[in-house]
Amino acid sequence: MASTLEHLFSPLTLGPVELENRIVSTAHQTTLVHDHLPSDDFVAYHEARARGGAGLIVLEATAVHPSGLLTPHTLGGYLPELVRGYRRVVEAVRPTGTRLFVQLFHGGREQIASAPRSPALAPSPVPSQRFRVEPRAMRSGEIDEIVAGYAQAAEIAAAGGLDGVEISAAHRYLIEEFFDPSLNRREDEWRDGGRFLLAVVRAVRAAASDLCVGVRLSADSSSGAGMARLLSGEDVDYVSVALGDSSTYLGSVGIVPPGTTGENAIAEPAAAIDRAHALIATSRIVDVAAADRLLAAGVADAVGMTRALIADPELPTKARDGRLDEIVPCIACNACIAHYHAGTPIACTVNPRTGRERQIEPRRPARSRRRLVVVGAGPAGLAAAVEAGAAGHDVVVLERSQRIGGQIALAGAAPGNAGIAAALVGTARRQLAAAGVELRLGASASAGDVLAEESDGVVVATGARPYVDPDLELEGVEVHDAWTVLARDMPAGLRVVVADWGGDPGALDAAEALAAAGNNVTLAVAEGLHQYRRNLYLQRLYRAEVTIGHHLELTGASGGAVRFRNAFAPERETTFEADVLVLSLGRVPEDGLAAELAAAGASFEEAGDCRAPRSLEEAVLEGTLAARRVLA
Ligand SMILES: Cc1cc2nc3c(=O)[nH]c(=O)nc-3n(C[C@H](O)[C@H](O)[C@H](O)COP(=O)(O)O)c2cc1C
Repeated sequence: MASTLEHLFSPLTLGPVELENRIVSTAHQTTLVHDHLPSDDFVAYHEARARGGAGLIVLEATAVHPSGLLTPHTLGGYLPELVRGYRRVVEAVRPTGTRLFVQLFHGGREQIASAPRSPALAPSPVPSQRFRVEPRAMRSGEIDEIVAGYAQAAEIAAAGGLDGVEISAAHRYLIEEFFDPSLNRREDEWRDGGRFLLAVVRAVRAAASDLCVGVRLSADSSSGAGMARLLSGEDVDYVSVALGDSSTYLGSVGIVPPGTTGENAIAEPAAAIDRAHALIATSRIVDVAAADRLLAAGVADAVGMTRALIADPELPTKARDGRLDEIVPCIACNACIAHYHAGTPIACTVNPRTGRERQIEPRRPARSRRRLVVVGAGPAGLAAAVEAGAAGHDVVVLERSQRIGGQIALAGAAPGNAGIAAALVGTARRQLAAAGVELRLGASASAGDVLAEESDGVVVATGARPYVDPDLELEGVEVHDAWTVLARDMPAGLRVVVADWGGDPGALDAAEALAAAGNNVTLAVAEGLHQYRRNLYLQRLYRAEVTIGHHLELTGASGGAVRFRNAFAPERETTFEADVLVLSLGRVPEDGLAAELAAAGASFEEAGDCRAPRSLEEAVLEGTLAARRVLA
């Protein structure tokens, strides 16, 4: 079926550059950068998105000066060696027709690095909350040097064969710091916030006269609209709007709105931006039909679909060909940016090939059809079944319960994971059906059952179960584990204490769902989630008036009270009165079947939590790899 997405797939002229379509992979750091230069994996990563049909790729925030490096993996836009690095990406991308820009960046007072760090530079010495950076004011000579750095970085981009450069004035990094009066308290001529922006724009334009020049702004910041107005008389080819502020916990969530944020979050803030130039709008645009409607409504001239392309690089080609059902949607879990903050290569929960383009080959039709049995229809088992089924193998999935999705389906009962669960389970259903996988629900499998299938390969993905501490004496309150609470109808009107060992979204989900059902909830601990998910969990829990106690370890319960000790001062005891105690004390593997099969001398692969409980992302990766090994 041909595409009806006529706006998305009409060409767009941005200054000297024509885009074949209006889907953009906006700047995002990949951590596929070594010694501040692109690695082979970096080239392969962008080549995959170009082959998938993106109209434009903007390479990640690239420092214009050594003082602007945000992390040890930031591209060094001032390095002459980068000319060769850019050329390698250009060679890989150009044959596809995708246009290639780079984002020119200075982090200002923001630094995500460990000691030894160089001094952070800012317009004025205002400490920054999120990464706890205490900068010093830039000296006026340094300001000139950094403006010259933007120009030099633009020249290097031009020499590298790129089609354009984008100046980052978003996310409260250096340019926005100059613009924001609470961060710019200078008493010299640079107190005029627009002066720095205009100096940079003009220097870049002069240095890269043949390139497309754009500027990125945060549409929801106090400076965004003012900067857009200031730019309206300037010689720039486009403005790109995103959301968020990197300097605060809450603001940083806006940079990558999570699944609980409504789709197309950029649409409203973008409308407030002066439209003197072409506009690229980005943030939580995941659905191609919705993207097309945004363009039709004139909200923007092009859309960033960045995480959507991290999840499925072939989204543009599939959309253009009308194969919408084949698109693997981004679930906005933000594993991609969690990797960035961990300093590890970009990865994606729903696409194990992301960041591993050179390691995991694309799926190819199997040369000979073989039969695979997968035990368990949680994320690992589903990934194994889809990987094998999509390659044309004959796959049967045996699932003990009456539904697919395992722990993620369970988590779908809570507001924080409802969207993620629905997207994952819905995608898996479509993929299983398209691959002709046989799904047997309510099929509890012994080793004998598995062997009776006479398959060519077996993947065991039996998941995990909650850990129970046999030494805890828990009496005088009703005790449940978080999974049981999520699986059944919520009680109401009770005093509930949720004891979280400190690493599990299960506890946060149970606390939130119980509060929403009208219980008085106390949550003890809850520290372990990466911050892009944790921040909004905490926002919702505080708003739901859940009491949150930190550094508490469960010691017991009796007579309607639950007792904790302080993790650091163990002699200090805290007691909460409770009707119900919900436990979330970690997980242990469901590895009984694997042991049985091993005892029977069967050969099989294991994937996911049954090997040892870990994340959803690891389950999907291991399921995929296990299927590939079994059928290799
Ligand atoms: C891993 C990661 C790194 C990012 N790094 C940058 C960056 O270098 N520069 C930038 O302007 N935005 C950066 N962003 C923000 C994205 O460009 C984009 O605005 C954001 O992902 C929201 O759009 P989406 O919902 O289409 O993904 C990053 C996002 C992610 C996921």
